[in-house]
Amino acid sequence: MRNRTGDHSWTGDYRRNGAPYRLWPWFGALGLALLLLAGCGAAPTLRTPTAPATPTITATPTLKVLQTAINLGTAVNYDALVNDAEYRALIQRYFTTTVPENEMKFDAIEPQQGTFDFAKADAIVRFAQENHIAVRGHVLVANGQLPDWLKNGSFTRDQAMAILKNHIETVVGHYRGQVISWDVINEAFLDGPWALRNNFWMRAIGPDYISLAFIWAHEADPQAVLYYNDYSAEEMNGKSSAIYALLKNLRAQNIPVGGVGLEAHLTLAYHPNPTSVAANMARFAALGLEVAITEMDVQIYQGSGTQAQRLQEQARYYGDIASACHHTPACKTFVIWGFTDKYSWIYDYWKHADAPLPFDASYAPKPAWQALLDTFLK
Ligand code: XIL
Repeated sequence: MRNRTGDHSWTGDYRRNGAPYRLWPWFGALGLALLLLAGCGAAPTLRTPTAPATPTITATPTLKVLQTAINLGTAVNYDALVNDAEYRALIQRYFTTTVPENEMKFDAIEPQQGTFDFAKADAIVRFAQENHIAVRGHVLVANGQLPDWLKNGSFTRDQAMAILKNHIETVVGHYRGQVISWDVINEAFLDGPWALRNNFWMRAIGPDYISLAFIWAHEADPQAVLYYNDYSAEEMNGKSSAIYALLKNLRAQNIPVGGVGLEAHLTLAYHPNPTSVAANMARFAALGLEVAITEMDVQIYQGSGTQAQRLQEQARYYGDIASACHHTPACKTFVIWGFTDKYSWIYDYWKHADAPLPFDASYAPKPAWQALLDTFLK
């Protein structure tokens, strides 16, 4: 099935389900029962002067209530961060890593050729810094969310390379020292056959776009860990094996790839085998790479049984992926793609009602949150 941009296909059957889910309230007192532990270290300051238009997101710093061995992260929805105080408070309380959901993407950050708009991304980074939260950068080279000037332009290979180089140097340079890791290449492989997608970059530059992007990003910030990120590659399968072969090859050539991001966008109809996920993580780790879960959510509309049973099943899926990460020394970061059902991308993007995240739309923790705590607080 294709998405709106026609650039991004997914496994599984994403039929529309018209009935909105009613979420039953669930109170997991564990999070709050844990003693307050201060967040880590001093926040770095913004090195690049912020554009005057940057909005200020006010938030009273709160102590972190969780101390996990893992960096627990969430994607951040910019509008919610600006407008919803409860949303801000939960991020402050629970998370040590964050990822702008859309604000660092090509169309958002270079809307006109050579004109960069960092205002929203800067506001998220500043919020994170003020609250001792690390930032993952997402994303430098992707199939979709490209600006019209780029998509509709006609460029020679040299011009396309110059555009990408300038984009990466400017964006990574702007956040140098402030973004701990970048998703440099996103979703480059087809869902089968396991070849590189014929995306804009492939057509304009050819397969070298991948190694060039890593090299340019590394030059712009040698400290940032540079990731290849993809979905449906959590377990051992054709796609993860194609990614493995690519990354092994890049490492052999000393291309500065430092991590693999396993997105973990799951549904109740798509449950990667936990043993296979752990084995997959181990093979990437053996290449010397970090492994991270980068975008986890679990759609439940395809499940059977009552809503309560689906939420229990969802919790099991979260727990299985969390546990595979927890038992892999190279997996130190676990990020969910938003944390509350109030703002999940699933409704707008996949056009069906759902309840994919660990907190419900009223911010009550669901069984999935308990499953994460049970795993990471052990
Ligand atoms: C999604 C955002 O969540 C949506 O708001 C946007 O409309 C489309 O992109 N894999 C990725 C993310 O790497 O960038 C996607 O984010 C979700 C799938």
